[in-house]
Amino acid sequence: PRLLIINGPNLNLLGTREPGIYGASTLADVEQLCRESASALGFEAELLQSNHEGVIIDAIQAARNNAVGIVINPAAYTHTSVAIADALRAVELPVVEVHLSNVHSREEFRRHSYVSPAAVAVIAGAGINGYRYAVDHLASLLRED
Ligand code: DQA
Repeated sequence: PRLLIINGPNLNLLGTREPGIYGASTLADVEQLCRESASALGFEAELLQSNHEGVIIDAIQAARNNAVGIVINPAAYTHTSVAIADALRAVELPVVEVHLSNVHSREEFRRHSYVSPAAVAVIAGAGINGYRYAVDHLASLLRED
């Protein structure tokens, strides 16, 4: 069984982008952590990073037929995208929302997420370990049914 793991805009710059906020790990490190966490729990990780809202929406729609759960860090689209939230609701798969930083301790505009109402859990401020916790949570949810 496959988990779709999506990273949104600017996360391709991880490691060099505001490292004081987002840490020194790169996107490659995040993706390796996701692959390892998933495979340790008997899942395969499908990884997507995109700077384009429509590409992310297409991947979410496709997950309906080829994944059992979704981990998403929507990055700035968290705070703007009704379309990503609608796509997540449409596929009816369990979704865990991840943020590297604690979005609640930053600017006011980062405290609102369009995505959270479509998620079963939200993990913020745990850095790249948040992805591991997200995969772990999806695995336990999926094992229950
Ligand atoms: C982020 C938080 C967002 O507010 C920001 O726009 C990002 C990254 C995080 O992982 O902490 O790009 O999702």
